[in-house]
Amino acid sequence: MSEDIKKGLMGVTVDETAISKVMPEINSLTYRGYAAQDLCAKCKFEEVAYLILNGELPNKKQLKDFEKRENKERKISKSLINAIKSIPKTAHPMDVARTAVSIMGLEDKDASNNSPQANMRKVMRIFAKTPVALAAFYRARKGKKIIPPEKKLSFSENFFHMCFGKVPNKDIVKAFDVSLILYAEHSFNVSTFTARTITSSLSDIHGAITGAIASLKGPLHGGANEEVMHMMNKIKKPENALKWINNALDNKDVVMGFGHRVYKSGDSRVPTMREYFGKVAQIKKDKKFEKIYDIVEKVMIERKNIHPNVDYPTGPTYHLMGFDTDFFTPIFVISRITGWSAHIFEQHAANKLIRPLASYNGNQHRKVTQLNQR
Ligand SMILES: CC(C)(COP(=O)(O)OP(=O)(O)OC[C@H]1O[C@@H](n2cnc3c(N)ncnc32)[C@H](O)[C@@H]1OP(=O)(O)O)[C@@H](O)C(=O)NCCC(=O)NCCS
Repeated sequence: MSEDIKKGLMGVTVDETAISKVMPEINSLTYRGYAAQDLCAKCKFEEVAYLILNGELPNKKQLKDFEKRENKERKISKSLINAIKSIPKTAHPMDVARTAVSIMGLEDKDASNNSPQANMRKVMRIFAKTPVALAAFYRARKGKKIIPPEKKLSFSENFFHMCFGKVPNKDIVKAFDVSLILYAEHSFNVSTFTARTITSSLSDIHGAITGAIASLKGPLHGGANEEVMHMMNKIKKPENALKWINNALDNKDVVMGFGHRVYKSGDSRVPTMREYFGKVAQIKKDKKFEKIYDIVEKVMIERKNIHPNVDYPTGPTYHLMGFDTDFFTPIFVISRITGWSAHIFEQHAANKLIRPLASYNGNQHRKVTQLNQR
C-alpha cells in the first residue's frame, strides 16, 4: 500500500472544530472548554445539551426556555406512531431510530430549509421526538400500551417514564443523566464525521442524522455497549471471568468495550462512568457485573495494555437500570443528537465538500468485448 495512504484516516486532521477537544495526552475531554467530568458533577443533561448546541452554558431563563421548547416538541405524529406499531417486533431499535428520524424528515415543514434558524428548529424536534419514538417501540414490541411523554418530567426522567411507566429514584436518574452527558459529544468520531460528510453536500439535517445513526450502530463504535453486555452475559459469573478473558486473548479475539482510536492509555470518560456504575450496582444490590468488570479490565491492561472505553461501564449500568440490551446504543443516540447537530451547524457555517481521493489498485485499462464473445 502506498505510504501516502492513511487507512481509516488515522492521525489525519481534516478540519477545525470549536465544539469539543479530546486530549489523550492528559486524559481529558472538554465540551466548549468545560471538562466533561465537571459538567457531570454540576449540570443536568439539558444544560449540557444547550451548551453543545449554543456554545455557552445557559442561565436560568435560557434553560427554562430551552426545556419548554424541548417539552413542546415531544409529541410525535399519529403516522409515526402507526409506523412504529407496524415495524416488525424483531427489528433492531437502532434501525427504528434511523427510520423514525427519516419519517420525521418527511413530516417536517422546514425539511428543505437549511438556514441556521430552521436547522435549530429541526434539531429541537429531532432531539425531543427521538426518545419518544424509541420508547414507543420499546413498549409496542412487548405488546404494551405506549406511554405518552410527560411535560413535568426532565429529559431523563421522561425517558424512564415512557419506557417503564415509572421514574426510578433520583440517584439512578442522575447516573443516566451522567451517561447522556458523557455520550453527548466526542469530536470527529465516525458517526459525527458521517453527519459532517452528508452535510458537506448541502444535504438536509434529517439525512445527516439518519446516516450518523447507521454509523453509530456498528460494534466498533456505539454498538460496543451492547456487545459488552453480551460478553458479560456469556461470562455469567465472576468465577468464570479470568478463564474467559484469558481464552479470548489467547484466541486473539477483539474484546468489546476496550481500546480507542484516540485514547491509547485510557478513556477520560471511564472513571466518571465507572463511579456511577458502582452507585447503580449498590442501589440495585447486584455486584456481579462489577466483579466481572474488574477482572476483565485487569487482565486487558496486564496482558495487552489496552484500557476500557466509555461503552464498557455504560453497558452493565443500563442493564442494571432495567433496559433491554438492544436499547443501549439507542440511548447513546438520544444524547449524541446534540453533538451531531452542533457539528452539522459548524459544517454549514464553513462548508467545503468532503471529497477525498483514492489510489487506484484495480485492473489496468482493458478493452470491452461484446456480450456474445464473453
Ligand atoms: C475502537 C477500535 C476500533 C480502535 O481501533 P484502532 O485505532 O483501529 O486500533 P487497532 O484496531 O488497529 O488496534 C491496535 C492493536 O490493539 C489491538 N486491540 C485494539 N482493541 C482491542 C480490543 N478491544 N481487544 C483486543 N485487542 C484490541 C488490535 O488487535 C491491534 O493489535 P495488533 O497491532 O496486534 O494487530 C478497537 O480498539 C476496537 O475494535 N475496540 C473494540 C470495540 C469498541 O469497544 N469500540 C468502542 C470504541 S469507543
